[in-house]
Amino acid sequence: MCGIIGIASNKAVSTNIIESLKRLEYRGYDSAGLATLHNNQILEKKCTGRVEKLEKILFKNPALGSVGIGHVRWATHGVPNEVNAHPHSSEIVSVVHNGIIENSDQLKKDLESNGIKFKSQTDTEVITLLLTEEIKNESPIKSVQKTLKKLKGSFALGIIFKSFDNLIVGARRGSPLAVGYAKDENYLGSDSYALKSMTNKISYLDDGDVCVLTKNSVEFYNLEEKKINKKVHTLSDDKNLAEKGDYKNFMSKEIFEQPITVKNGINEYVDKIKNDINLYNFPIDPKSMEKIVLIACGTAYHSCLVAKYWFEEMSNIEVEIDVASEFRYRKIKFNKKNLYIFVSQSGETADTAAALQLCKDNNVKTCSVVNVVESSIARNSDWVLPLHAGPEVGVASTKAFLGQMLILYILCLKISFNRNEVNKDEYIQKINNLIKLPKAIDDILKKEDQIQLVAKDIYESKGSMFLGRGTSFPIALEGALKLKELSYLHAEGYPAGEMKHGPLALIEDGLPVIVIAPKDKYFEKTFSNTQEVIARGGKVLLITDKHEMVINENIRFKIDVPFIEESLSPFILTIPLQLLAYHVALLKNCDIDKPRNLAKSVTVE
Ligand code: AGP
Repeated sequence: MCGIIGIASNKAVSTNIIESLKRLEYRGYDSAGLATLHNNQILEKKCTGRVEKLEKILFKNPALGSVGIGHVRWATHGVPNEVNAHPHSSEIVSVVHNGIIENSDQLKKDLESNGIKFKSQTDTEVITLLLTEEIKNESPIKSVQKTLKKLKGSFALGIIFKSFDNLIVGARRGSPLAVGYAKDENYLGSDSYALKSMTNKISYLDDGDVCVLTKNSVEFYNLEEKKINKKVHTLSDDKNLAEKGDYKNFMSKEIFEQPITVKNGINEYVDKIKNDINLYNFPIDPKSMEKIVLIACGTAYHSCLVAKYWFEEMSNIEVEIDVASEFRYRKIKFNKKNLYIFVSQSGETADTAAALQLCKDNNVKTCSVVNVVESSIARNSDWVLPLHAGPEVGVASTKAFLGQMLILYILCLKISFNRNEVNKDEYIQKINNLIKLPKAIDDILKKEDQIQLVAKDIYESKGSMFLGRGTSFPIALEGALKLKELSYLHAEGYPAGEMKHGPLALIEDGLPVIVIAPKDKYFEKTFSNTQEVIARGGKVLLITDKHEMVINENIRFKIDVPFIEESLSPFILTIPLQLLAYHVALLKNCDIDKPRNLAKSVTVE
């Protein structure tokens, strides 16, 4: 989950490298660096922290040159300090890397036994020093191809050589890498988003590919070291390019965009005139589908957990869910009548991509629910269902989560109707209710001031619990994840019915317990769990759409949310939890868009 950029140009490159690195900070921001070639020298500049710090260093001490590479880091090997920041350069080679070299310790020992000295703790420096040896007797492309054969693990690489001041070599195995084309300039980038501000003409490397860029040529070589051609894609232009506008940070923009993004998603898939859902080219006929397997990570996984309840309610189709990091190593009984669905905002998450590849290798049908249609996961799926949520920049996912649930809900409704497990009247009723969702989301966003009060009441606590049953249980998990990743407060999501089996021991005087209890078949049971918590001193925030329920003195706060129909409650109940996490993080002066230790796209396992 690091970001890579390389530019070979007829003019100075460091400014454009910096601008691209700023766009890449969503992939990691522990440290940043760049290296350029000038007057037969490698000029390397790097620092801990954000790209703007690197920019300031360059103001004082510019890195000249028309060929260069840059990197933003999310540390995997070695603490995030300046020495471990990329690029890693020797006298004659400089390398930026995204991925993990699994045999780096052994390779390092071999090099050290030959008297070669290391400066850093990183696996990447092993690549630099292997190349430094190879380039003494080989061409750039040959030295790279020979070095790659020694590496185990995953990499996306950008490499420059002191004695070849017009070229950049790129290589891909397991971590995404793209090439961009422009007049008198060509680019290397971790993904198309990094290159979007400079070009819309993109090619993607596949695993095993190596490329050689100059300012006016690009060559590709495959695993067999044969020269190959690559398709040139033209990227869609994001109308609402990710800009903050009047918002103080991307997360608040993305939370308040949700009525629009949900409306856009509905408009993309729902035909309001015909009262129908526009999903037709299923890779497997819904009538013959035996199972749906949903695979994802993090927040995307929570959307899958909600979808499982929807499929159980609306259809007889069996649904299995798994986190991608587990699925990819399990002994799966693949079935060609199953549809394997991969949910991923970025479409670049390494575990999810690897789980997808496992399905491809077993010749089963795959579908991806993604927000980035040019992403690796989308390009490797049989069927792609875009969220149409617009770029999501905040590391903590908000509008994409609602988008993921929306697409899964629409998919569930269409499949259930096609299988005659939802009748026409129910189908139309649910479509009409779905169309009311953006307004309901807008209404709950208007209660932000109430939620700010709750945030003030809990932000100094040492932990919290989120409880729910049915679809409110994954929403409890999502609420806890938001609070954890934004405010660094410990928070645990739990099925309300499980409290008595142990976690009730955590309840003590003043501990915040957020109870998500819509007026569904679980309400009474969840409310009695709430009483158990109150009896032990828990400070309860109740989020419900059961408006007639009178708040009793033991419930600290009650947030009433709109009600449309039970199936749609997860969308509405999520909003107060996003706002709560946001305001607690603000009160704790946390970095809202780039929380510590995290990255927006986890492209390493
Ligand atoms: C969400 O708030 C988190 N930042 C994280 O859990 C994220 O959902 C997860 O890494 C999956 O990312 P993806 O949707 O891009 O695959």
